[in-house]
Amino acid sequence: MEKFKEILTELESKLNNVNSLNELVEIRNEYLSKKGIVSSLMSKMKELTVEEKKTYGKEVNELKTSVEKLISEKQIKVNEIEQEKRFKEEKIDISLPPISHHVGKENPFYKIIDEIEEIFIGMGYKVEKGPEVDKDHFVFELLNIPKDHPARDMQDTLYIDNETLLRSHTSAVQAHVMQKEGGKPIKIICPGKTYRRDDDDMTHSHQFAQVEGLVIDKNINLGNLKATLELFAKKMFSKDSKIRFRSSYFPFTEPSVEVDVSCFNCHGKGCNICKNSGWIEILGAGMVHPNVLKMNGYNPEVYSGFAFGIGIERVAMLRYGIDDIRRFYQNDIRFIDEFNKKVED
Ligand code: DAH
Repeated sequence: MEKFKEILTELESKLNNVNSLNELVEIRNEYLSKKGIVSSLMSKMKELTVEEKKTYGKEVNELKTSVEKLISEKQIKVNEIEQEKRFKEEKIDISLPPISHHVGKENPFYKIIDEIEEIFIGMGYKVEKGPEVDKDHFVFELLNIPKDHPARDMQDTLYIDNETLLRSHTSAVQAHVMQKEGGKPIKIICPGKTYRRDDDDMTHSHQFAQVEGLVIDKNINLGNLKATLELFAKKMFSKDSKIRFRSSYFPFTEPSVEVDVSCFNCHGKGCNICKNSGWIEILGAGMVHPNVLKMNGYNPEVYSGFAFGIGIERVAMLRYGIDDIRRFYQNDIRFIDEFNKKVED
């Protein structure tokens, strides 16, 4: 029936404009309630003949089904729209303001170790590790410091038992590496902590750190040592740094030297950093003593070598202008922050 088609088309276009449940309920009432369009069309049945009832009844029932279908399909869509709207309207921010975390920064102590390692790796050195709790044998005996040697007095330390102690210098690593390499050439550095009886003040601490260096090969001489340390000083302090040797004594080197670097602050004129001398002492070094080579499996007639020991905190204090050695160990975050700011600037 034409009229029914029109009713459906009209319903479709009305439904197209529906966006809310309320509007849809109104339309459902208009079409499907007791007094709605479909019911009133159905109630016309009683005015028809039996024959007419058959076709009309069928058509009107189909109309009812189509109307119900259109409305329930729209209902699904409207539900989705309504839900979407509610999600938007009822959205609440459940997040709290973030807790700010303190981002850790590197202690200058470790910064300087990285820098020293980088300089020596650039010269072809390998970085070794050695034990902090070590044996008398490695710390002293194999370095030409026998039991009753007076040089032991300068390096008193904490003993765990008669033979076991907190190492008083990283030089012990020289013996470990020589024993390990068994007569082969060596070119290593080893940074690490050391322990020694000392008065704790602005420049001394019972715990401090050193970088040990050891080179063993054929034809190694004092000139090689000087060139190596001068390059180190230039890279660490200033392009125009110079070094000088002063003769000294260590039982494990012969000859032995104390090494000074020209003052990078006043360039030799004299200032408070270099105590007006123009020079700053930075390390001890020397040619590996033939006894040490022999005791550790190297023939001193064939091999020679040099060794050096650099005080890490001393270099860091000079390099970064730090006034008190104790600051390295106090874990004061303000110091570390302040220091990092200075370096980044
Ligand atoms: N081990 C020495 C010390 O702690 C420093 C040192 C001096 C290391 C001379 C060396 C060296 O390798 O050749 O005082």
